[in-house]
Amino acid sequence: MRAARCTEYGPPSGISVVELDDPEPGPGEVVVRVHAAAVNYPDVLIAADRYQVSAPLPFTPGSEFAGVVTALGPGVAGPAVGSPMAGAVLSGAFAEQVVAPLAALRPIPDGLDMVHAAAFHVTYNTAYHALVTVGGATAGEWAAVLGAAGGVGSATVDVAKRLGLRVVAAASSEERLATARKLGADAGIDYVREDLKSRIRELTGGEGAHLVVDPVGGDHAEAALRALRRDGRFVTVGYADGRIPRIPLNLVLLKNLVVRGFEARTIRRTDPDAAAAAARALAGMVRDGMRPLVSRVHPLSEVAAALTDVAERRTTGKIVLDMEAR
Ligand SMILES: NC(=O)c1ccc[n+]([C@@H]2O[C@H](COP(=O)([O-])OP(=O)(O)OC[C@H]3O[C@@H](n4cnc5c(N)ncnc54)[C@H](OP(=O)(O)O)[C@@H]3O)[C@@H](O)[C@H]2O)c1
Repeated sequence: MRAARCTEYGPPSGISVVELDDPEPGPGEVVVRVHAAAVNYPDVLIAADRYQVSAPLPFTPGSEFAGVVTALGPGVAGPAVGSPMAGAVLSGAFAEQVVAPLAALRPIPDGLDMVHAAAFHVTYNTAYHALVTVGGATAGEWAAVLGAAGGVGSATVDVAKRLGLRVVAAASSEERLATARKLGADAGIDYVREDLKSRIRELTGGEGAHLVVDPVGGDHAEAALRALRRDGRFVTVGYADGRIPRIPLNLVLLKNLVVRGFEARTIRRTDPDAAAAAARALAGMVRDGMRPLVSRVHPLSEVAAALTDVAERRTTGKIVLDMEAR
């Protein structure tokens, strides 16, 4: 099978496409013929060995896929061979076949094709849990979403509007804010050229946001936290900026703020009830027409360029690799 390969940690330019033996499933594992794989920011971090968890060299990058089950390992009773499934793994998805533990697979919500299914689970589950499970969002509240044209950010704007929230989107250009507005954002802030804290306050009628969802970090995190109203909630989900913010705790004390984190990889194990509730809610939204914003589809041969575009902040929504495209 054709597969992307990372033989030393570093920038995406070092990743090539090679021919590998087809994988065999071990106990508790399933082989999926990959139709499409989404490019996620953490794939860049894993290739550079800058992620929370290391992938031992050499490895095939790629953490999110959609495809069809082709083989079941010992002890696995289902899903049946031929079933369409999506999945999330640490690595292995940028290939024509991936071997994954059964627990890594999820059914594809009705209505999503393979490209959109590959781009759905990580960002939309992160968005839903950040807003609802840990963010406690209620219809009518103001949510400020940073990196609002990115993968997690665009999904958060989309889900927030479907939950009846009012959304202030923050991004680095007018063009990127237009992407967030198309998803329903009520207002936009160019946080490179405008003062994030004062603009969030102004746009929310002077009082500030009820909730911030932050996949970016860096200096924007503290500015957004300062723009929360009393009893506001700040949810940290990622650090695309590259710098992990260090917030003075007196800011939290002064306005009774709540700061929480959310981590998607472990939620199905740590809180299965919340994971099931999110899956039900998101499936309903997909039935109502919700689709992840896929801005570009590339063949596997362009994997290094696709990862470089994500690393260098040149993408909106999601980029997907189509394994059947040449
Ligand atoms: N907690 C979880 O479970 C979870 C799940 C998925 C992802 N994440 C994390 O969330 C973060 C965002 O992921 P994503 O998939 O949304 O990534 P993405 O699609 O690349 O979006 C990240 C956004 O961050 C902004 N940004 C600001 N400074 C940046 C910089 N120096 N380099 C790149 N982007 C920068 C960019 O928007 P502007 O140019 O408009 O500022 C970009 O659109 C990552 O750190 C990822 O690891 C966490």
